[in-house]
Amino acid sequence: MLVFVLIFVALFVFTILLYGKWQILFHSFKIPGPAAVPLVGTFSLINVSKKGFINEIIKQSKTYYPVWKVWTGSELYIVTNRPTDAETVLSTFLDKSNIYKNFDEYSKGSILTAEASSWKVNRKLINPSFNLQVINSFLDAYIRYTTELVDILEKTAGTEQTDIIKYTWRTTLDNVIETLGDSEPSLHKNRYDFIVAASIFGDIFMQRTYKFWYRLHLIWKNSSLSKKHAKYCEEGRNLPKNMLTLVEESYEAKKYESNSLREKRFLPHLVKMSSETDAISPGQVLEETVTMLHAGTESTAATIAAALVFLGINPEIQDELYDEIISVLGSTTKNPTLEDLNRLEFTERVLKETMRLVPALPVISRRINNDVKADPYVYPAGSNILIPIIYLHQDPAVWPDPKKFDPDRFLPDVSETRHRCSYIPFSYGVRNCIGLRYAMMSMKVFLAMIIQKLRVRTVEPATMDEVQWQHFIVLRIKNSRVVFEKR
Ligand code: HEM
Repeated sequence: MLVFVLIFVALFVFTILLYGKWQILFHSFKIPGPAAVPLVGTFSLINVSKKGFINEIIKQSKTYYPVWKVWTGSELYIVTNRPTDAETVLSTFLDKSNIYKNFDEYSKGSILTAEASSWKVNRKLINPSFNLQVINSFLDAYIRYTTELVDILEKTAGTEQTDIIKYTWRTTLDNVIETLGDSEPSLHKNRYDFIVAASIFGDIFMQRTYKFWYRLHLIWKNSSLSKKHAKYCEEGRNLPKNMLTLVEESYEAKKYESNSLREKRFLPHLVKMSSETDAISPGQVLEETVTMLHAGTESTAATIAAALVFLGINPEIQDELYDEIISVLGSTTKNPTLEDLNRLEFTERVLKETMRLVPALPVISRRINNDVKADPYVYPAGSNILIPIIYLHQDPAVWPDPKKFDPDRFLPDVSETRHRCSYIPFSYGVRNCIGLRYAMMSMKVFLAMIIQKLRVRTVEPATMDEVQWQHFIVLRIKNSRVVFEKR
């Protein structure tokens, strides 16, 4: 009896919550999807683990292909695996959905999560720091920090390494501290605490996404997880705060030459803007720095780690990569130049194929404020569209033998045959990844310099079929074990 009363009350409250959303409800009926529980959401996505969440998205995408729905409380998410939908949505709608709200206590209102109106202003402000000329000037820093990484890997050669992201993330962090923060990494003694804090934040972020009870403020605020969350959000902000203070001091001491490439770097540029104009407040500069430090380091670190695991599983591809690197660079000791990087075509294809299988952000989402006609459905205004990049990248209708690691899928004539949104590791449209060029260039330097000097062998996972994911905010390969050997 009690169960019936509870179900009745839940349905009643659910209807009240949906009051004014009848259009959403009406259009949602036509869209298939797994069973949902009133007030709570789609049953199969409740309380899954980090790995389970992404596996469930893939499983349901196969079952209800190509379009299905998820309820989280009274919010409708339409999951579409159609590249045409991805193109329409990503080029038309700029507002992010509520699943990004859990970022707020970590970095509030930065370009990653901001509403379209403030996003436009801040993205325009930050864009100049990511132009080609500025990015090209980072080559020396990329080489320097990759050399340090190669030295560490050479010293540990022959011994088994677990989860090499712990090394690659340190390198990407040092890269970003210098290139975007204009700071000498060694000045920040405890800088690697940022990695610990960011990892824990990512873990808690995912738990808040799939454990529905944390959506209730009272439960969340009184949970031990919320206290842990507050602690690590605070710790994650220490490094960006210190970086900002150093740049503010340099700016006040007039250390920046006007219009120089150094002055155009992300942090000096924003400090200048906040000091000389009211385009951005100092508080907002900090929020943008926290985001940039996280978005700009974990994604590239996870991608390089994944690429090394895949090369270890596929030695013949590693040999082909090594041959290209030696033929372009000419020796096992020469550092790459900008021209060399342009000629490393196979290296680029290896990175692209890695991001196909392990896209750093496996799902992205937009809130739509107009109806979208997507035959045979209407995606109603006020709902959210979820684009599972991970499944778009593995759809067997587009990618034959999807689990196979095959960089030649990205040969120009093969790429031409696919829809432009069947492969979107950096998203698509004006709100795509601002760090795309930065990421591609730094990752090419990484991969070329590591494989130039070391051979990698993967112990676990032994085959591509055994690869498993671990979903923090960024997707990683789970439980990898590799061995590096000097060439
Ligand atoms: C393998 C490397 C990377 C991948 C796969 C990647 C992927 C993405 C994706 C898919 C988005 C869109 C997110 C969404 O729509 O919700 C995004 C946004 C963003 N990325 Fe990246 N990213 C990478 C590296 C970087 C780097 C190196 C930086 C900075 C140096 C960066 C900074 C950002 C920022 C700030 C945004 C928000 C942009 C906006 O909304 O205007 N990312 N990234």
